[in-house]
Amino acid sequence: MGEAVCHSFSKSAKTYARFSSVQDRMVQALLTPLADRFYAKVLDLGCGSGNVLKALPSLGLKVGEFVGLDISSQMLALHPTTSPNAKSVRLECGDFESVKLTQSDLAIGASSLQWADNLGKLCRHLSCCCQRVALAIHTAASLHELHAFLNTHSPLRGAKEVQDILKQSFKGFKQTMWVETFKQEFNDRESFLQQLKKGGLLGGGSLPFSKAKALKLHAPYASLSYEAIFFIGELI
Ligand SMILES: C[S@@+](CC[C@H](N)C(=O)[O-])C[C@H]1O[C@@H](n2cnc3c(N)ncnc32)[C@H](O)[C@@H]1O
Repeated sequence: MGEAVCHSFSKSAKTYARFSSVQDRMVQALLTPLADRFYAKVLDLGCGSGNVLKALPSLGLKVGEFVGLDISSQMLALHPTTSPNAKSVRLECGDFESVKLTQSDLAIGASSLQWADNLGKLCRHLSCCCQRVALAIHTAASLHELHAFLNTHSPLRGAKEVQDILKQSFKGFKQTMWVETFKQEFNDRESFLQQLKKGGLLGGGSLPFSKAKALKLHAPYASLSYEAIFFIGELI
């Protein structure tokens, strides 16, 4: 999935920040349990254009070295390189499924790990090199309104599968896991379509002409939902 996802976010890099209000809310929900503390080394997997780094001050979260890793150089180009809450910020362009992950006190994956081809392998890798992890992973119930209209299946894993993978991969960690659903409402079809097009979350899936046309002309536009598994793991 890596190439298609990279292409999707590279294409929407410039508009992502304007269309990521749900991801902003998810960063807040994910990191609130870890707020008001210092972490010497933080690894942000799929850091995008910097929603996690930008949220540190409001969360009172302080960092020594912050490493942001993303597969899209276009997203990284928009990522801030300083923060009042981090001593240093380093950005790396690479695929989190294939690079060697550095030892970290805290690894964060906010709205990014759902496209991993082998989520279990990635989580086991994280469990070997991180003291703590904070992950928000979208499930197949995300954008269900869209899939119901198009009669398509989400390429993402269901909630149970994600939960089982996390439980198995982080044995030996104190685990806190919960499910949250976020809803976005729209007044017209244009803003609904803009959200889908410019938020990058479709992950690069392409539609046959007839479905693309039906979406443009007849999609029910009232709302979009996003479901994610939230997971905090701390090595005991
Ligand atoms: C929905 S954005 C989330 C960005 C940010 N974490 C946030 O909360 O706003 C997902 C990001 O994950 C990145 N990504 C997806 N798959 C990746 C992979 N295999 N390796 C590295 N980055 C990846 C995308 O390029 C994109 O920037």
